Amino acid sequence: MKLYNELVNGNGYSVFSIKNTHILENLRKEFVDRIFNSNNSNKNISDVRRLLAQMSKAEINKSMVSLLSFTNLSEMMINACSDIVEELCGKELFIQRRAHTIINVPGEGQAKQWTHYELMSGISPYTYVIWAPLHDLDDNGGVYYIDLDRSSQIMKEEEQTGVVNGKRVLNLMEHQKPTKLKFGEAIIFNPFVLHGNVSFESNFARVACNVRFQSINKPLLQKNTDYLKYFKIS
Ligand SMILES: [Fe+2]
Repeated sequence: MKLYNELVNGNGYSVFSIKNTHILENLRKEFVDRIFNSNNSNKNISDVRRLLAQMSKAEINKSMVSLLSFTNLSEMMINACSDIVEELCGKELFIQRRAHTIINVPGEGQAKQWTHYELMSGISPYTYVIWAPLHDLDDNGGVYYIDLDRSSQIMKEEEQTGVVNGKRVLNLMEHQKPTKLKFGEAIIFNPFVLHGNVSFESNFARVACNVRFQSINKPLLQKNTDYLKYFKIS
């Protein structure tokens, strides 16, 4: 219940340690092997990150094609964090059919994502998002979060003025310090919390996965079973 309170009445987001780290490690290994097109490459995540940092956008897009068949990524993410997920939503869930792997390359004009909340893409208010980097975050290649009170206040103002993604929201990108996480840590947040990322300088790209989920007992609203699938924690 503590986590639920934090997400619903507190900050709206929370950093936690992933319990089943061996699943996260397997997930990372599978990601590395897929990028290198090998079932058992001797490469590690740093090799991938260094390589991706030097690739053009077209080359990165091409390498991401090999991730399309990584269809059990969602289950792996949920199973890695099953204690947290079950505490919030029970065992029976709707989970995102295709969890995202996000590659952000360093350099100006590359990785900026404007401040947004997940509701904007039709995610139901009963959904939570888990975001986990596949390595330590030791530069600014992370994600920043705006606490729930401030996010809600901005949302109400948008409602009143009819201006969405106005100056106020876009300016939130300035001077943000992304949350530093270690590999094995993740952030869980509700769909009302504003978040985004900033461009960063590094020799390494940032790689992270995220997955959305909710209890089977809550309405899906705009999303349907094209986007979500049934999953039971065993
Ligand atoms: Fe997002």
